[in-house]
Amino acid sequence: SWTPAAFVDTTVEELKQKVGADKVVLGLSGGVDSTVAAVLLHKAIGKNLYCIFVNNGLLRKDEFESVLDQYKDMGLNVKGVDASARFLKALKDEADPEAKRKAIGKTFIEVFDDEAHEITDVTYLAQGTIYPDVIESVSVNGPSVTIKSHHNVGGLPDFMKLKIVEPLRMLFKDEVRRVGAELGIDKTLLGRHPFPGPGLAIRILGDITAEKVRILQEVDAIFINGLREWGLYDKVWQAGAILLPVNSVGVMGDERTYEKVVALRAVESTDGMTADWVNLPYEFLQKTSNAIINRVKGVNRVVYDISSKPPATIEWE
Ligand code: XMP
Repeated sequence: SWTPAAFVDTTVEELKQKVGADKVVLGLSGGVDSTVAAVLLHKAIGKNLYCIFVNNGLLRKDEFESVLDQYKDMGLNVKGVDASARFLKALKDEADPEAKRKAIGKTFIEVFDDEAHEITDVTYLAQGTIYPDVIESVSVNGPSVTIKSHHNVGGLPDFMKLKIVEPLRMLFKDEVRRVGAELGIDKTLLGRHPFPGPGLAIRILGDITAEKVRILQEVDAIFINGLREWGLYDKVWQAGAILLPVNSVGVMGDERTYEKVVALRAVESTDGMTADWVNLPYEFLQKTSNAIINRVKGVNRVVYDISSKPPATIEWE
């Protein structure tokens, strides 16, 4: 029967056999999958694993710095690249969800390629692809419908001429977490909610500006930190805030305001394919809403998304 310990032993052995003394480059995202893939590879080939962590400027508040520090503490050889400005430029005036994903995917590949070229004689590209990614990239991009293009699946373009190594491609998420625990990865990191590759770009409906990113990062941080403080974080499969492209009227003192609306979303799920909205305590929602409106300049209304998937997807774009 399958155990994390046995999986680690076999996979490390297989990776040693396959990769030998060659160099491997891997893009870290801050998520569970790429982190577990990196630690497995690090165990197998040590310093021949070169990790690149790109800040696309669309991560959660302070995430880039804190996750980069964690990676360094774990002994990974990781280069942090702040490409926020380049992504923002690529996204300028772009309001269409798929166009935003494409712009981000293209920019990521450019940035990653630039960085990979800095490493001499690299042979392999490692990815944290897991089984549901393999399935979804087939069904989602099937012949008749394209629902969403998941840009982190399927590898980088030919011109990089790298061989692919995907040590987690047969695992489900819960198995990846168990392997991570077996490898001694921090519980908080392993318990992190999934976060989409395009990040906050698909939670800012419409076009993206630095100011909108700032607003959403503040809102999201209040919501997520609140879930942690209330002991709700681990009861939720995924949560986040969405910045809506509407202003609504409010009042502050004797002043009329006309400011942004944000939606909060928290779902229960096992694999993201179906999901139910979470019945968060009213008192939590009340406190969170007050905190957001009082502390985040530019927001005067908070709503809670009570839609399940299907038919509503988890993300709004
Ligand atoms: P949906 O919105 O399709 O989301 O119900 C299901 C899961 O997939 C994530 N998601 C993405 N992940 N790139 C990603 O890496 C994407 O473009 C993307 N779109 C959605 C979403 O956060 C949820 O976990």
